[in-house]
Amino acid sequence: MRYEIEVNGQPRIVDVPEDMPLLWVLRDMLGLTGTKFGCGIAQCGACTVQLDGFPVRSCQFPMEQFDGQKVTTVEGLSPDRSHPLQKAWIEGQVPQCGYCQSGMLMAAEALLREKPQPSDADIDDAITNLCRCGTYPRIRRAIRVAAGMPPA
Ligand code: FES
Ligand code: FES
Repeated sequence: MRYEIEVNGQPRIVDVPEDMPLLWVLRDMLGLTGTKFGCGIAQCGACTVQLDGFPVRSCQFPMEQFDGQKVTTVEGLSPDRSHPLQKAWIEGQVPQCGYCQSGMLMAAEALLREKPQPSDADIDDAITNLCRCGTYPRIRRAIRVAAGMPPA
C-alpha cells in the first residue's frame, strides 16, 4: 500500500504492507534510526514518536491506522540540538546507555506543550516510558530546566 506521510515537515512516500508498524517505516524505510525498538508491545516507550503532536508508541501503530497525521521523530526536534529539551538533556548529562532517551524526549516535548510548567507529579503521570538505567531524576530535572523552572 502506498502512503504519503509528512515526517518532520518533509513529504515522504512509502510503499509498505498495511500491517507494518510505523516504527519499521521510520527506521527501515526512511532511515530515521533515532527512534528505538525496545519491547515491541507498547510497554517501554523507546519507540515514542508524535502523531499530530501526540506521543504514540510506533511499534504498535500499524500503517493501516495511518490517516494523514503529521509525524515528528526525535530528528525533528531541531536540526542542530538547539531545542530547549536537547540543550537541557546535554547540560544535565541525562542519558546513560541512551536507548530510551529519544522516546523520553518526544514524550517530554508533548508534555511541555500541554503543561509548560509541569510538577514532578505531572511529569510522572505524563511520561510512562521506561528507563532501565534509572535516569528518571535527571529527566525530571532536565524537563524543569527546559521549562525555565528551578532545577530542584
Ligand atoms: S518498543 Fe514500542 S513501546 Fe517498547
Ligand atoms: S538511559 Fe539506558 S535505558 Fe534509559
